[in-house]
Amino acid sequence: MDVELREVHDSDLPVFYRQLNDPEALHMAAFTPKDPADRDAFDAHWKRIRSSGDVLRTILADGDVVGSTAVYGEPGEREVTYWVDRAYWGRGIATAALRGLLTEVPERPLYARAAADNEGSLRVLHKCGFRVTARARGFANARGEEIDEFVLHLEG
Ligand SMILES: CC(C)(COP(=O)(O)OP(=O)(O)OC[C@H]1O[C@@H](n2cnc3c(N)ncnc32)[C@H](O)[C@@H]1OP(=O)(O)O)[C@@H](O)C(=O)NCCC(=O)NCCS
Repeated sequence: MDVELREVHDSDLPVFYRQLNDPEALHMAAFTPKDPADRDAFDAHWKRIRSSGDVLRTILADGDVVGSTAVYGEPGEREVTYWVDRAYWGRGIATAALRGLLTEVPERPLYARAAADNEGSLRVLHKCGFRVTARARGFANARGEEIDEFVLHLEG
């Protein structure tokens, strides 16, 4: 598939909201908003990050909006994240999107976090050059309990 990144448009937000509320995706990502169905909180979050210094991109596959990816956080501690619509999983989209984002954003180091059992996300990160540097525990809203997570690091 032809994977491209572009700036986020207002019309993408309802698509992201639907993608966020997929139960299987939520379970996989684990570290998710407290109440992903809270549309006001979702809108407030996107309003805040769209006016911040975060780099936010919509992922297009063959021209369709299939997810989002971002570099966010404070300088020196910036993290990557991504989310792909379940209907498009397993086609190399997250890997291509993260590679594109890393080309657009040259700053290093960059960080990432993933639930220790999120094999898909860990594979995407590994393929893009991230390496596990630490193991931590954190409360995962989508699991309702503390779980293990990996902290990963991409050097220049
Ligand atoms: C994780 C996620 C982004 C992967 O997206 P994707 O477009 O399917 O990923 P890719 O197709 O680029 O897959 C990359 C690799 O991961 C593997 N992979 C993908 N999902 C997997 C899974 N559930 N279990 C094991 N491996 C998986 C693929 O086989 C591929 O490996 P390969 O190249 O060796 O064959 C997607 O499942 C998702 O959005 N999940 C919900 C949100 C989330 O977890 N975001 C990350 C938060 S840290």
